[in-house]
Amino acid sequence: MGARAHGSTGKVHFGGLDEVSLYGTPVEAAPPPGPPDPKSSFLKNQLQALFQPTDNKLAMKLFGSKKALMKERIRQKAAGHWVIHPCSSFRFYWDLCMLLLLVANLIILPVAISFFNDDLSTRWIAFNCLSDTIFLIDIVVNFRTGIMQQDNSEQVILDPKLIAKHYLRTWFFLDLISSIPLDYIFLIFNQVNKYCRVFFNAAGFVMQDFSESFQILHAGRALRILRLAKLLSLVRLLRLSRLVRYVSQWEEVYILQNLQKKRTERRGRLSSEQASKKKGYTKSNLIFKFLNMASVFMRIFNLICMMLLIGHWSGCLQFLVPMLQGFPSNSWVAINELQEAFWLEQYSWALFKAMSHMLCIGYGRFPPQSLTDMWLTMLSMISGATCYALFLGHATNLIQSLDSSRRQYREKVKQVEEYMAYRKLPREMRQRITEYFEHRYQGKFFDEELILGELSEKLREDVINYNCRSLVASVPFFANADSNFVSDVVTKLRYEVFQPGDIIIKEGTIGSKMYFIQEGIVDIVMANGEVATSLSDGSYFGEICLLTNARRVASVRAETYCNLFSLSVDHFNAVLDQYPLMRRTMESVAAERLNKIGKNPNLVAHRSEEDAGSINAVVVALAAEAEHASRSPDRGPPSLGLALRPLQAAAFLGQRLPRPKSDNNVSADHDPQPLARGFFHKSDAAFPQ
Ligand code: CMP
Repeated sequence: MGARAHGSTGKVHFGGLDEVSLYGTPVEAAPPPGPPDPKSSFLKNQLQALFQPTDNKLAMKLFGSKKALMKERIRQKAAGHWVIHPCSSFRFYWDLCMLLLLVANLIILPVAISFFNDDLSTRWIAFNCLSDTIFLIDIVVNFRTGIMQQDNSEQVILDPKLIAKHYLRTWFFLDLISSIPLDYIFLIFNQVNKYCRVFFNAAGFVMQDFSESFQILHAGRALRILRLAKLLSLVRLLRLSRLVRYVSQWEEVYILQNLQKKRTERRGRLSSEQASKKKGYTKSNLIFKFLNMASVFMRIFNLICMMLLIGHWSGCLQFLVPMLQGFPSNSWVAINELQEAFWLEQYSWALFKAMSHMLCIGYGRFPPQSLTDMWLTMLSMISGATCYALFLGHATNLIQSLDSSRRQYREKVKQVEEYMAYRKLPREMRQRITEYFEHRYQGKFFDEELILGELSEKLREDVINYNCRSLVASVPFFANADSNFVSDVVTKLRYEVFQPGDIIIKEGTIGSKMYFIQEGIVDIVMANGEVATSLSDGSYFGEICLLTNARRVASVRAETYCNLFSLSVDHFNAVLDQYPLMRRTMESVAAERLNKIGKNPNLVAHRSEEDAGSINAVVVALAAEAEHASRSPDRGPPSLGLALRPLQAAAFLGQRLPRPKSDNNVSADHDPQPLARGFFHKSDAAFPQ
């Protein structure tokens, strides 16, 4: 038992258990009972398979998975045998053929109409008959092709009645008018005329005079009919609407293809990340850039083709109008003496004239002499210039979108330069501002807050964690802490850049944030101007003030360019309230620092005995846990251990709180684990006092 069409909507109803396999894959509908005719059923099956959705790019975009595609196949079968799915192989190849035929039509038709007078030549009739027939068949095919809805792309309309209604409401009349076989009508008309002529010629011996006047009349009429026919055959150019439809559909598939390539490439990158992290990244980045460029160039190419097509049409029109007028002596064709020239020469001059109107607002070889020519030139100028302006706008947009961040940066720098000139800033200050911009933005400008604000919370957190990975790796305080704590902190950090000589913190002021150093060197300067110590990559400073709610105990000055991440006091308190152990850890480091610069270490959070006692208790507990863990090697690390291992280390080192690495009494030999460096500062060792 398969899926059944539900009512007239063509929707599939999944009823019994047997419709879905154990793994949730829908089972295809069984063929209807009855004796099958092997020959016809084979052909029918082949055709029906062609009409079914295949796992091409468009189908995968619409349905997402093979399972959903299976369901869609069942739905399509239920809808009726001769309904073509828009994602089927048949439709794909049909569209491809139609696209080629359309391009051929849109190029050949105007040339044939304008430059060839022998409209009824067999070649022309054959070409017209063939293309008209195919375009008429296309209308029939369109009546049987499911419709992808713009608003709800998941649901393809497969009910023949609904398809017909939709097609009749939208493109049917345009398609029909552009496919009316005018040549057949002319052919029949001409045949009728010929018979009339033969009849009157035969009767000529009876009424000679009448026959002659009829022939003159007939010649004039035939000319008029020919002209009318030419004008009517222009209706075929409405096929352009189909071209626009097909091209936009193909563009969609192309964009999707890019997207999928990116996805596959991303998956590939993830799998090969361990093997060649950096290499893989640069390679994928290059592929991404290349695809981006390729899609932009494809669009520019499309635009150029469209421009050329419009130029081509305009050129043909330039010739068609004087031709329909019978080449008056003041028309541009007569002035250029092109009436009897070879069609290619006529076409070249006409194209040159059209392009002159379009691209440089010129007149071609001679300015228009007749009124018709003048109006035609004006029309061509207006339409050409509009298309040209649109083309320029589009192309500029596309090229600019290639590197919008760099463009934005340049714009920002330009604005800043103008501002500096407006404010008449001193040369040295201007220099510093320019250098700051170069260092801070590195040639690219992003509104990072806006971009991140548009992401989901989880994605935002992931991106920030990824962006801060080098900071987390270089700051021992993070590298050894609980991942939740790290995540909580890094999502609240703000990137800041300081220049050499900048006073980042001024002693005695009230602090509102602390800093983590990603890159750079800062000096801790005492009130007497003496440098107490220097801190570098991976250290942090400015925490004492936040812990004590007092004033800054020292000044901090940037020695080099410093890339810092700041954490505001509110965020600092919010996070540390959740992780009291991390607060205590920070306090212990702060106490050491205060001690080192000769200030009272008890300033930090009223380090009462119970506080010290509780930390000691934690330390002892962890030491015991570590001992237990060391006895059972299978066990994973304790959850808090990562954050507290430095405390264990401190416990092993004489049951005291951790000391900076620079402190001489912490010898490398006694350092039980490298993690013990968690609370110390690389720079303390690098810049010993
Ligand atoms: P805060 O008082 O907020 O501002 C000045 C900062 O200098 C201070 O916090 C500490 O982070 C830092 N600091 C003070 N003394 C030392 C030291 N001896 N070693 C490292 N950093 C220090």
